[in-house]
Amino acid sequence: MAFGFLWLLPVALQTVVLGLDFYTAGVAEFRPSIVGGNSEQLLAENLEGYLQLIAAGNSTTDILVFPEATLNSVLQLTAVPAFTEQSLCDESPQDDAEIAPFLRRLACAAREFRTYLVVNVKEKALDKGSASGHAIYNTNVVFDRSGAVVSRYRKWNLYLESNTNRTESPQLATFRTDFNVTFGHFVCFDMLFYAPAQELVEGLGVRHVIVTKMFNSELPFLTAIQFQQGWAWANKVNLLAAGASLPQAGISGSGIYAGVQGTVARVLITDSDVGDRKMLLARLPVNPDDIIPLEEEPAEPEAITSVRLKLLQQPDMDMFSTWELPMVGGSSVNKSICQEDLCCRFEADWTTNGSVPGYSYRMGVWVGRRRYEEEQYSSIRLCGLFACRSGDAASCGLLDSQDNVVLLTQGLEFTKLLIEGEFVRRPRRLISPSTLSASGFYPLQPSQMSWATEEQDNVTLVRMQLKQPQGHLMTFAIYGNYFDESAGGGGSSLVTAPGVLLPLLLVLLLTIKMYFK
Ligand SMILES: *[C@@H]1O[C@H](CO)[C@@H](O)[C@H](O)[C@H]1NC(C)=O
Ligand SMILES: *[C@@H]1O[C@H](CO)[C@@H](O)[C@H](O)[C@H]1NC(C)=O
Ligand SMILES: *[C@@H]1O[C@H](CO)[C@@H](O)[C@H](O)[C@H]1NC(C)=O
Ligand SMILES: *[C@@H]1O[C@H](CO)[C@@H](O)[C@H](O)[C@H]1NC(C)=O
Ligand SMILES: *[C@@H]1O[C@H](CO)[C@@H](O)[C@H](O)[C@H]1NC(C)=O
Ligand SMILES: *[C@@H]1O[C@H](CO)[C@@H](O)[C@H](O)[C@H]1NC(C)=O
Repeated sequence: MAFGFLWLLPVALQTVVLGLDFYTAGVAEFRPSIVGGNSEQLLAENLEGYLQLIAAGNSTTDILVFPEATLNSVLQLTAVPAFTEQSLCDESPQDDAEIAPFLRRLACAAREFRTYLVVNVKEKALDKGSASGHAIYNTNVVFDRSGAVVSRYRKWNLYLESNTNRTESPQLATFRTDFNVTFGHFVCFDMLFYAPAQELVEGLGVRHVIVTKMFNSELPFLTAIQFQQGWAWANKVNLLAAGASLPQAGISGSGIYAGVQGTVARVLITDSDVGDRKMLLARLPVNPDDIIPLEEEPAEPEAITSVRLKLLQQPDMDMFSTWELPMVGGSSVNKSICQEDLCCRFEADWTTNGSVPGYSYRMGVWVGRRRYEEEQYSSIRLCGLFACRSGDAASCGLLDSQDNVVLLTQGLEFTKLLIEGEFVRRPRRLISPSTLSASGFYPLQPSQMSWATEEQDNVTLVRMQLKQPQGHLMTFAIYGNYFDESAGGGGSSLVTAPGVLLPLLLVLLLTIKMYFK
């Protein structure tokens, strides 16, 4: 697919926002080259793609973010300094000899186009204390407008990355910019855990967050844009999320989010096996509490026909306490459902077309522990409404690759939908809206629904409600991630594969020698 560049705001808008402080941010949805060359050629292709997208900004951007794991492989590791006085574009005799040329090229691009630049690399770090003398990290590096390194972060919550090391404790990485914004940043899977993601927000008061991602969407609560928007909304922060684009592997999804004001730019490739290389640009307020013009909402997505994005499904809906909506026209319910310590009340009115929709709907509540691919867990309290393929609860949230989801969810419209839940208090938890519409596979915007929380004696009362009639609903839920209750979650011990590292380092030393002749 060709390089695309979306400039989402009409020029006229800039006059509307005069008087407020805004910055221009870009996130790249980026398809890495993964076949068709040796690792050196693939790196060169990825680098070329990065440079084209950076150049397409014409020096109009304040900050650009590229996704996780879309640049170098473990065969072309690079050193990453924690901080440099000077631009990495200029070689200095004091520099670490293992700073790879591609990293310098990117520093030069940051300088040429006068933009902050965030990229994610596979880093090789000397560590004399360890047996091998080296560590490999999954690392975000941030350049300022001169190409100097202003921040480095090494991923803490690893996901199926057996040959990657972790730091001794999670790092809280932040940097301050010349437009008076302090950003915190982390990598992909980190967003599901307390440290360091929530610590940046709750501990340091960071209001602008950057995440580099290679995220595998999961139905019905954690598809990429749904999760990113919900996280930004619940935390009331601006969020820049750049995602790798490999829809054949379930990986896609990038966006720019203005906290409680919703999504201002987004892309999720659902209808193609081939990823994209595209920079999304949008303006965000320096103070996330400043109102942004309504015009900045992205256009209503085009209806999607078949979903080719390969989606996971979790957790097992059999464990939910659920109730199936009777599929008769002109109905109305007011119903409470409880499981363990969570009770939720649902009020719904809906109309049908006469035509029987291809999906049915269930309301449900779940308190339990879910597992991710490795031995990592989250404790979840959630309640919501979800589309099901049949009357069987286990079919909820499922989708067949041939499904025309828009057709299947047609014929039923909710004219009223309100969910109210009493969520137990815990020091470490994040309760987010989690919604998904079959048209575009995007969440509902704040113009379409409300979200409010209220602290009561020993619970938090959460209320979400449709503001306007809504068809094509896949998910409409309150998703509570209770971080502290999942033993081992996020803090499990480091898993490494020593058999992989030694041959790898040999290849790497040869590669580096070639670069520096
Ligand atoms: C950059 O400049 C080119 C050529 O003038 C123009 O077509 C493009 O829209 C510009 N891009 C941005 C983001 O301003
Ligand atoms: C990184 O992991 C390797 C095993 O894969 C280990 O030998 C090495 O000591 C680790 N390095 C550090 C700094 O932990
Ligand atoms: C920078 O932001 C802080 C709040 O984060 C504000 O108090 C201060 O006035 C701002 N400075 C400028 C120059 O805008
Ligand atoms: C639904 O039931 C609750 C409590 O049972 C009540 O407070 C509420 O007013 C009812 N809502 C409607 C629309 O009848
Ligand atoms: C009813 O059907 C028509 C035509 O198929 C469609 O345009 C309309 O959106 C449907 N209404 C609902 C509530 O789905
Ligand atoms: C809240 O406190 C009341 C009274 O102490 C108790 O009966 C109730 O079970 C508590 N609710 C939760 C959700 O812990």
